[in-house]
Amino acid sequence: MLLQKKRMRRTKKIGILTGGGDCPGLNAAIRAVAKTAIFCHQMEVIGIKDGFEGLIKDKTRKLEIKEVSGILTLGGTILGTSNRANPFAYGEEKKDVSEKVFRNFHNLKLDALVCIGGDGTLHIAHELNQLRMPIVGIPKTIDNDVEATDFTIGFDSAVAVATEAIDNIHSTAESHHRVMIIELMGRYTGWVALHAGVAGGGDIILIPEIPYKIEKICQEVKKRSEFGKRFSIMVVAEGVKFEDKKLVVREIIKGSEDPIRLGGVSYKLAHQIEDLTGLETRVIILGHLQRGGKPTDFDRILATQFGRKAVDLVLAEKFGHMTSLQCGEIGSVPIASAIRNLKKVNLDSSLIEAARGVGTCFGD
Ligand code: F6P
Repeated sequence: MLLQKKRMRRTKKIGILTGGGDCPGLNAAIRAVAKTAIFCHQMEVIGIKDGFEGLIKDKTRKLEIKEVSGILTLGGTILGTSNRANPFAYGEEKKDVSEKVFRNFHNLKLDALVCIGGDGTLHIAHELNQLRMPIVGIPKTIDNDVEATDFTIGFDSAVAVATEAIDNIHSTAESHHRVMIIELMGRYTGWVALHAGVAGGGDIILIPEIPYKIEKICQEVKKRSEFGKRFSIMVVAEGVKFEDKKLVVREIIKGSEDPIRLGGVSYKLAHQIEDLTGLETRVIILGHLQRGGKPTDFDRILATQFGRKAVDLVLAEKFGHMTSLQCGEIGSVPIASAIRNLKKVNLDSSLIEAARGVGTCFGD
């Protein structure tokens, strides 16, 4: 108790930033961190603008209660974000500007920094922490590909948007007796496609973790036609490789920390399906809609719990750790353990089993 009081006195001022791609639930997390820090521990909270860019260029704003109230349900991030601001490889020349980050951190008189981010941001947070910056992390990404936590902020909201899209596609697919391919985000993992595909009753779900055969997919849509279901809904993760075993890259973004933008494998699959089955096929690439709009109730609750826990971690000086959700419990894990590998869909999971049970084809 005494020790905690002593620490509470020492931790007066914290910074908070959101890095990488945005997602619903970021504002809910900012709100939870700021309110807990201010209400419960009388701290000062400094919002760092545009991810690490704000620490490189000293762009900040003080967050008072009025700035963080009314933002629980707001999509995006009031702080702004950037995925082109890695302090260890900044700009096109990939310069190491980490010294600037340390200088600004000290000039701001921050006692700790809360980084809300996905894989890329957590890597940077870990590296800065190795150099003794007092950092804690909060995992967020619609991709849900961060290890050591069952869910990341934003994933549930993306799944909700994608599920609604799949629901809506059913009627037009049925009217025109078409194969409709819905391509979803998720980078190199299939979490969004698997969850939305199951929730939306996709007939075929393709995810990077399960290699598919085009013949199998064609057999499935033809079988459905023979049984009187003259349409098929196919949910495809953007990270699914084409038959040449290559990812389909939409664009390479110079200067970005994560330069590869996936997208378009569905068009290639659609051509193959039309050629091999004669069935009319259409493609919908849902894109950034999946990252927009309000967070779901699940994400609001997760973000609120993660935000509060992050402040606890700061007070306990558990730096280099991030918040986590494991088997329903909010806890914390070393950031290092969360960034070793991308979290892939477990092929023995009960969700895959259940999907197979109801006849979903994974193309294998
Ligand atoms: O990591 C989140 C994510 O939305 C991926 O699912 C997607 O591949 C990528 O970001 C898109 O990035 P950008 O917003 O830079 O186009």
